[in-house]
Amino acid sequence: MILEAHNIRKRFDREVLSDINVKLKAGSITALIGPSGAGKSTLLAILGLILKPDSGRIKIMGQSTSNLSDNQLSYLRNHHIGFLFQFHHLMKEFSVMENIIMPAMIAKMQRDKVVKRAEELLERLGLSALKNRNIETVSGGESQRISLLRAMIMKPELILADEPTGNLDSSSCNRLLSLIKWANETGETFLIATHDENVASIADEILTLKDGKLI
Ligand SMILES: Nc1ncnc2c1ncn2[C@@H]1O[C@H](COP(=O)(O)OP(=O)(O)O)[C@@H](O)[C@H]1O
Ligand SMILES: [Mg+2]
Repeated sequence: MILEAHNIRKRFDREVLSDINVKLKAGSITALIGPSGAGKSTLLAILGLILKPDSGRIKIMGQSTSNLSDNQLSYLRNHHIGFLFQFHHLMKEFSVMENIIMPAMIAKMQRDKVVKRAEELLERLGLSALKNRNIETVSGGESQRISLLRAMIMKPELILADEPTGNLDSSSCNRLLSLIKWANETGETFLIATHDENVASIADEILTLKDGKLI
């Protein structure tokens, strides 16, 4: 298992997550569906170690996260989990390449090696021509594929995606989905919160969040 979560609870004004149990098998694609406000983003943030649950336990790669310090949690997050969001959060005023390698630079990895990996990934996508472009000059669909490369640059075992196609036309959506399938074939495990039936169609498993529970 890449990730195991037991009895996760989270309350804001009301109880959003009641008693959530999730297991993500290595190499799987899981879709997380449920109406708006059901708690999908909250659950992803908790599983991604960004947000603390009120109670419950999470294991990443077999390692319990319950007693880890904030620094240890950041380390685990940076090295084992990639994030992909609906609004890509790429950094303006930086090039496509700088954006892709940013997580690895933060982790103080050797720049030459990381740039080489980014170049290989861009090449595979036929996006090499964009490498030195300012991020503000690329299209929405390209931005979303670039965001997935950024999520993959550290070779995390798990990628958490929150409505990654929510903003895309159908052709960009299909290209992103083929990239996700390709990344999955290279060994990435995915958990994808989505409303989109096309996304659910590439999933090995579908989890539905309803009234604070997974059904
Ligand atoms: N930081 C927060 N403070 C208070 N309420 C929140 C916060 N984040 C989310 N919520 C509430 O939790 C519920 C679930 O939100 P969310 O996880 O974003 O759902 P989804 O992603 O399924 O649309 C919503 O009612 C939302 O208003
Ligand atoms: Mg959401």
